[in-house]
Amino acid sequence: MKKKLLSYLYPITQKVETHNNGVVEITYDQGKKILDSANANYSYGSLQRILKFGLQQIDLDHTRQILLLGLGGGSVIKTLRNEFKYNHKITAVEIDDIIIQIAFKEFNIKPNENLELVNDNALFYVRKSKQKYDLIIIDLFIDNEVPKDFYEPDFWNNIYHITSKGGSILFNASTIEHVQHEIEKLLPTLNSLYFLQQMNKVEGSNTLILGTKK
Ligand SMILES: C[S@@+](CC[C@H](N)C(=O)[O-])C[C@H]1O[C@@H](n2cnc3c(N)ncnc32)[C@H](O)[C@@H]1O
Repeated sequence: MKKKLLSYLYPITQKVETHNNGVVEITYDQGKKILDSANANYSYGSLQRILKFGLQQIDLDHTRQILLLGLGGGSVIKTLRNEFKYNHKITAVEIDDIIIQIAFKEFNIKPNENLELVNDNALFYVRKSKQKYDLIIIDLFIDNEVPKDFYEPDFWNNIYHITSKGGSILFNASTIEHVQHEIEKLLPTLNSLYFLQQMNKVEGSNTLILGTKK
């Protein structure tokens, strides 16, 4: 029997050792595949619903270039393509080459003329990029934590410079309460660069920050 069919009887899990994200799990449950880290859903579960909720607040009509920082299994790409019918360019940056292979092999995320996959540290990528983006999705986690560098003004000044005029950001800012002070500390910087909207406890857990360039 095929794995997909078997998964209606019981969940089937495959564990994969990655370079930056520890052991991740690809689970087939009720015919649907999801990607989890040790303590968080990375792709195709609640994470996908959280980013979809964020995208619903953004007008994509004039969006032609999207930068995704944090590819994971690429679930937000599927949401953009299938649900928002966004057919223009997406550039996705991912630090972990094993995660890129998982996205490719397990979730059919394949580069083409409208999808560029870049294996790089998002911190370095935004420092050197010359391209302007109409929407930047910042979904950078190692397990359930956003690495500290992504709460620093330096990173956000670089993000500002590559946001197009009137462009937007969607920042999946945290899953855990104890980093709320990092967000509070960052807000004055973000407020000076973007018109902000903050949404708390999306799917009961995540803080989402949306911004339009000032
Ligand atoms: C929650 S997953 C992203 C899920 C994805 N956006 C989706 O829609 O399915 C977080 C990803 O951020 C990546 N990441 C963490 N730190 C990074 C960094 N410094 N540069 C690039 N990617 C990073 C991790 O390797 C992981 O794949």
